[in-house]
Amino acid sequence: MKTFKNYLVGGATFILLLTLVACSEPTSEKSAAEAKLITEQDTVFIGFLLDTLQDERWYNDKELFEEEVANLGGRVKTLAANGLDDVQISQAELLIEEGVDVLVVVPRDAAASAAIVELAHEADVKVISYDRLITNSDLDYYISFDNERVGELQAQEIVNNVDTGNFAYIGGAESDNNAILFRQGAMNILQPLIDSGDIELVYDQYTEGWNPDVAEENMLSALDEQGDDIDAVVAANDGTAGGVINALSTVGLDGEIPVSGQDAELNAVRRIVDGTQTMTVYKSINTLAVQAAEMAFKVAAGDDIPTETTVNNGQIDVPSILLEPITVTEDNIDETIIQDGYLNEEDIYTTP
Ligand code: BGC
Repeated sequence: MKTFKNYLVGGATFILLLTLVACSEPTSEKSAAEAKLITEQDTVFIGFLLDTLQDERWYNDKELFEEEVANLGGRVKTLAANGLDDVQISQAELLIEEGVDVLVVVPRDAAASAAIVELAHEADVKVISYDRLITNSDLDYYISFDNERVGELQAQEIVNNVDTGNFAYIGGAESDNNAILFRQGAMNILQPLIDSGDIELVYDQYTEGWNPDVAEENMLSALDEQGDDIDAVVAANDGTAGGVINALSTVGLDGEIPVSGQDAELNAVRRIVDGTQTMTVYKSINTLAVQAAEMAFKVAAGDDIPTETTVNNGQIDVPSILLEPITVTEDNIDETIIQDGYLNEEDIYTTP
């Protein structure tokens, strides 16, 4: 913990603290107040940088992470960059100036955010990459899910429904390392079927900024190019799946062909119940947020964190924790996301 730096930055409180310490009589009541102020200065201060709050999941990440930091007795400041690299880098600078002990970052752009690691290290602040990997940098830790596995689960569930014909792949943002891994995972399942000639990948596009409107446009192009002859769609998350399903509805194909997703967003789970989306991937955001907060505390205390695995980010093997994703279809909504308290039954099954 960089307590001394906190003192310098938190000027006003520091002066107040000094005044109190200087003027105080050694009564037990006053000592308690002093102790409280000293403790406030001494608490772990964590900076949490998000790319965006556009997708529902990131609100959950924010809330659960902040809650766990508070439970552990620390304080956190969360900033979201609205999908802009420059903004994210400036936000990192700001938090470093404010004296954070550790930065937890969901990078907007895997490569551009290496600058954040450099800036942080110059100030002796360690960086944890949260959910998405920061590539080509001297990153300290990475905590996420097995993202290649996410892609495998998506394609596998689609292939369980339809294993011949024309397939479309509607990916995530190419700037996000996860999107690359989701596609790789999907291709692990699809490639043998492509090689055997059972399926043809007639459309294969990333989606700029993970934007559902872009996914919808892309799906409309795919339908147009193929004269609506598409048999299945692997979409990389629930947002893009929503765009895909809108596009399919314009030609009456919604609910007729399988579509994948990811994140267990409420609207997506409702679509699964309605039959227009085939599956989603549930990733326990609670586990991710809680473990990331615990990790941040240990890092702030200067502890080394033993991890079972490492992930190469192009520059180093980053000590990593990778959690398990779970397929959700209409058959296991109850024993996964409802049982876990991620979504509640009433919200899912009551038509809004
Ligand atoms: C996350 C997904 C999310 C996507 C878009 C990815 O990096 O892993 O859960 O849907 O970003 O925000």
